[in-house]
Amino acid sequence: MDKIPGFMARRPGSFSAAMARKSDPYLPTHINTKPRAKFQVRALLGHCLYRRVVVWTIFFLVLLTVALFDPRFTAQSRNVLDMVHGNKGLIKETPSGMENVPLQNQGSINIYPPKQEVIHEVQLGLNNDVIEDVVEDAPNDILNDVSSDASGDTPNDTLDDIPNDIPDIPDVALIDESVRHEQETEEDIEGDNGPKWLRYKHLDGYYRGLRALVQPPGYKPEYPKPSMSASEPMPTPHHTDMPTPAIYRPHPDYNSDSWQKSYVHVNPCYVDPDKQVPAPDLYAYRGLVQGQPKAALGSHAALGLRDDVCFDRFGRYGPYGLGYSVDRGGLSESLDTESEGSETVWEQSGQINWNAVDWAEAQAECFNSNQGRFFTGNQTRDAELASTGLKKLHRTAIVVRTYVGFKWTAHAVLNFRAMISELNLQSGGEYDVHFLLHVRDNNAPIWADTTTAQEMIESNVPAEFHGLCTLWSEAQMKLFYPGNFGDTFENPSNGDIHGVYRSAHMPLQYFAVMHPEYEHFWNWEMDMRWTGSYYELFDRLGKWGAKQSRVGAWERSAKYYVPGLHGTWENFIQLVNNEILLSRRRPLLGPVSFPGKVALNQGEDFMPATCTTGSEISQCGVGEEADLITLNPLFDADESGWVFAGDVTGYETTLPKPPRRCSIVTASRLSRRLLLVMHEETWRLHHSMFAEMFPSTIAFHRGLKAVFAPHPVFLDRDWPQAEIDKAFNGGVDHSSSGRGSPFDLNNEHNHKGTTWYYNSEFAGLLWRRWLGYAQMDGRGENGGRAGEGAMRGGREEEQDPASSGRLCLRSMLVHPIKWEDPAEKDD
Ligand SMILES: *[C@@H]1O[C@H](CO)[C@@H](O)[C@H](O)[C@H]1NC(C)=O
Ligand SMILES: *[C@@H]1O[C@H](CO)[C@@H](O)[C@H](O)[C@H]1NC(C)=O
Repeated sequence: MDKIPGFMARRPGSFSAAMARKSDPYLPTHINTKPRAKFQVRALLGHCLYRRVVVWTIFFLVLLTVALFDPRFTAQSRNVLDMVHGNKGLIKETPSGMENVPLQNQGSINIYPPKQEVIHEVQLGLNNDVIEDVVEDAPNDILNDVSSDASGDTPNDTLDDIPNDIPDIPDVALIDESVRHEQETEEDIEGDNGPKWLRYKHLDGYYRGLRALVQPPGYKPEYPKPSMSASEPMPTPHHTDMPTPAIYRPHPDYNSDSWQKSYVHVNPCYVDPDKQVPAPDLYAYRGLVQGQPKAALGSHAALGLRDDVCFDRFGRYGPYGLGYSVDRGGLSESLDTESEGSETVWEQSGQINWNAVDWAEAQAECFNSNQGRFFTGNQTRDAELASTGLKKLHRTAIVVRTYVGFKWTAHAVLNFRAMISELNLQSGGEYDVHFLLHVRDNNAPIWADTTTAQEMIESNVPAEFHGLCTLWSEAQMKLFYPGNFGDTFENPSNGDIHGVYRSAHMPLQYFAVMHPEYEHFWNWEMDMRWTGSYYELFDRLGKWGAKQSRVGAWERSAKYYVPGLHGTWENFIQLVNNEILLSRRRPLLGPVSFPGKVALNQGEDFMPATCTTGSEISQCGVGEEADLITLNPLFDADESGWVFAGDVTGYETTLPKPPRRCSIVTASRLSRRLLLVMHEETWRLHHSMFAEMFPSTIAFHRGLKAVFAPHPVFLDRDWPQAEIDKAFNGGVDHSSSGRGSPFDLNNEHNHKGTTWYYNSEFAGLLWRRWLGYAQMDGRGENGGRAGEGAMRGGREEEQDPASSGRLCLRSMLVHPIKWEDPAEKDD
């Protein structure tokens, strides 16, 4: 028992029981119902019309009550008020804090069973050449200077020099704006058949498995349909032997000559303090499942993510403890799912015993042994480092927002093991992972008493992550950002200005102030998953951001990129530049001015040398790291119908609201310099805005570089391409901004069939099918919705020799994942 403290802490026993005793509204059961509650408060308070209706209804009920003294009416009116009031306290599950309280974890790690035994069970050498292939194919230029490897997708046109006719782009992308403004009618949204998209056929290719794997030249996606050319249908194979996965390494080849020539040597990192257990590799399959749909929004190609490999649950998570039992050091997850051929993933590393791992220690040791590779955050020192010897790198922190009462599961543990191993251990310390733990009880003496702080961590976070936690509370934010924040234009959530629901950025700003060693900060959430390697995701997003020109960046970032309609990313850049001309609006570049704007102490000189007059304007910002990378469009919140668009504090309310940009879902990368500007805006100018709006708006005001990264997002149904554009770019100038925005309360339903949006129904379904659990397929009369239809997938179906086996998906982000193993669902 003593040997596996971490595990004991997060199993149903003591830990969950302790959770269950508290009647905290943020416990998981509450989380499951939250989206609906949020919707209600938005519906009631977000719309002028609805607000009027509610106000009048209440007024009417009160009148009736007074007039009739009928107790039933009294009760009813109170219910309405309770509903509104009850929703005020809603808090998002993102939150976090500030004082590192590391805890020690004893014990060592060993491999169980011993390596040789595992190897004996599988055919040795079977996949050695495949491994080589994949490794060799991995791009080797990964950490090269961005400016020097900017190949191909750099825009080469200036705003004055845009071709009038754009080849390769179907006319539909340029249809008249008046047509686009036809909003879905009430009938579309609430008619007998529900929203229009419910009537599109479901796609099936996602659920096909490894026995239908094909090599890329033979791959034909089910969606989007191959155009005109009615080529003969590609046969779907049915392999009788399961294909073999190969080690997948998206990291640079640290041993290559080219690396050694330019960069400081990378020392390998280990899971254990005795350096016996190297960080394991993850595995991928070379090829794609025949028919699997392509992303409808965004793409792998645009971001430099590999699109010719797929991942199954064992290749992704097996190295970190999926698929073997607790007494062997695993997590006993997926023992009850189909698993043919899964042994390969333990062939090299053995099944690692993770029971006593201490991630803080492993991460710190990895960085310590590689310190010479990185800038330090000390400007004097960094100037010296930059001028001598081999190239140095900046470091990035992944700041995961968690909170007291979050229910940890085995799958959550797997996810963060993968994150730390891939981002820190396998990169020689380029990234660190931190948990910002939001302590909701403002009366808990977490700063005065280390025992209290320690208990807070022990009862809310598995032992293996204890040393990565930083606590924070709203009371602390009130102390850190004191003073009068002035008037707010609108406060639909009725939350406190220091509260996490409205100002989740405050603790992140503080974190940046306290951690000068990091240049970039990814704000991340507990209910996000990525099927591929985390290093590939974050590294390629960063590289891509640096390559983007600032010219047209705000306009491109306001628009969903639909590759089936817009062609390549280069086409898309041209298309947007053309739309800017057609719109007759001034292109957005550099800081914006607006009535009442106040200067920063630190000035506003954030434009890089590439943007100075005399330079080629299209190169403005190329090679400059992005200050903000978001994973949803950066839309103009004004008149967008987004519920919190008016939650703007500290600006002169007699003037018009300042111009705003916003990106829903707060997962994003922020630069130190952006966070420090936000910090000054907060402490000195007492500015704040709703959390999804503040970072992007401040970047917009001050002329920092911001980009929306069009990562691959999939749709569960066969949407016509033009309908995607209409629904997701139905706002001003064919974008997601302003009137007609997809983020309008009335339009958000369109995201339910996507893999990435806070209200997505498809993300969880697909993720759980991929994990091997049977799921209701969401099909049925009137289009079907989450939880409807027939039970599909799972062990029996995947084991059936006639089926195509377990799922293998290309890399993709999924959100929100509120539960994974069905056994967790109603705990
Ligand atoms: C960019 O434009 C210049 C001048 O028109 C041309 O010589 C060059 O080949 C172009 N580069 C690319 C990548 O298209
Ligand atoms: C920063 O680096 C310089 C040069 O290495 C050093 O002299 C100085 O003490 C450092 N400052 C701090 C605050 O560590």
